[in-house]
Amino acid sequence: MSEPADRRYGPATLPRSRGPVSAAVLDAFRRPPHDLPAGLGADLDPVDAITDEDLQLTLFLCYELHYRGWCGVDEAWEWQPTLLALRAEAERPFEAALRRLVGAPRVPAAGVAAGLAEVVAADDGPPLAATLQRRADLSQFREFVTHRSVYHLREADPHSWALPRLGGPAKAALVEIQTDEYGNGRLDRMHAELFRSTLERLGLDTAYGAHLDAAPAVTLATNNLMSLFGLHRRWRGALLGHLAAFEMTSSLPNRRYGNGLRRLGLDEVATRFYDEHVEADAVHEQIAAHDMCGGLIRVEPALAPDVLFGAAAGLAVDRLFAGHLLDSWAAGRSSLRSPAPPTVPPTVSLTALPAVAPPAPPALV
Ligand SMILES: [Fe+2]
Ligand SMILES: [Fe+2]
Repeated sequence: MSEPADRRYGPATLPRSRGPVSAAVLDAFRRPPHDLPAGLGADLDPVDAITDEDLQLTLFLCYELHYRGWCGVDEAWEWQPTLLALRAEAERPFEAALRRLVGAPRVPAAGVAAGLAEVVAADDGPPLAATLQRRADLSQFREFVTHRSVYHLREADPHSWALPRLGGPAKAALVEIQTDEYGNGRLDRMHAELFRSTLERLGLDTAYGAHLDAAPAVTLATNNLMSLFGLHRRWRGALLGHLAAFEMTSSLPNRRYGNGLRRLGLDEVATRFYDEHVEADAVHEQIAAHDMCGGLIRVEPALAPDVLFGAAAGLAVDRLFAGHLLDSWAAGRSSLRSPAPPTVPPTVSLTALPAVAPPAPPALV
């Protein structure tokens, strides 16, 4: 399988390994599907699975087979039994780490929407959005966008896994949200495409998965969390809770991101992705909490704790992500695994852009 004709839409190029297990998976992917060596997963026993580079990359390599796949990798790997077994071995410590992080949120008598509001109100994450609005320089903003590109270039896809698993009001509400995420069927309005314009304006590679090597474990974990919830039907409640928390905490930070870019001299094409979310997510917030999660719990009341767990886990991993960026910058180093990503020839004029600061030294996180 050769390079795709259009790198924008994937499949992505395979990233570099980060330890023995991801190295073995990458080595296997370069050959036709076959049984992996027994005991490979024994190396996946980290102290903290959320920040373990080898474990998070191994999970990402496995999960991506269910999205756009990998350049040059046989598509039959998607359902190779020993690879699925290895993935399960990596998921166990990841799930255990998430449980340690957030515990088992209590469902209040007032119902799941009230529970979601409590989870969101208790979220006191590091002030990443305020920093990007007021103080971050252009190279730091480019770092932030580089991290987020792993998700935003396939924005909404993980939550779409819930659609065939739902019926009734929860499904209708999810469709309403996802329809907006996918631009109501118009390519130029798809949120992933709006984000591509932001990348372009910042002079960053817009190819699907272009920045995987730069993304540390905690960034991959924010993505793997959605894939974990999305690819297991048993986690459908958590998947909806994750989306609800996403929507309920989106409007204000996105206003700040847009303001930060404007402060740095970027134009409305660069800020449109963020501006769009200020309005859209103020509406999505209500649909997600009441119609979608409330609708699910009316049909499947036993899933209420999972809904709140998914919301709390999403916010908690995002707090770790925000803390990583701010701690890195406070220490005067890059938050990426490798120096600031290479710029590509811009497809738009960058004359309005201020000069980009020289990249910070590499940091292996
Ligand atoms: Fe969106
Ligand atoms: Fe949204």
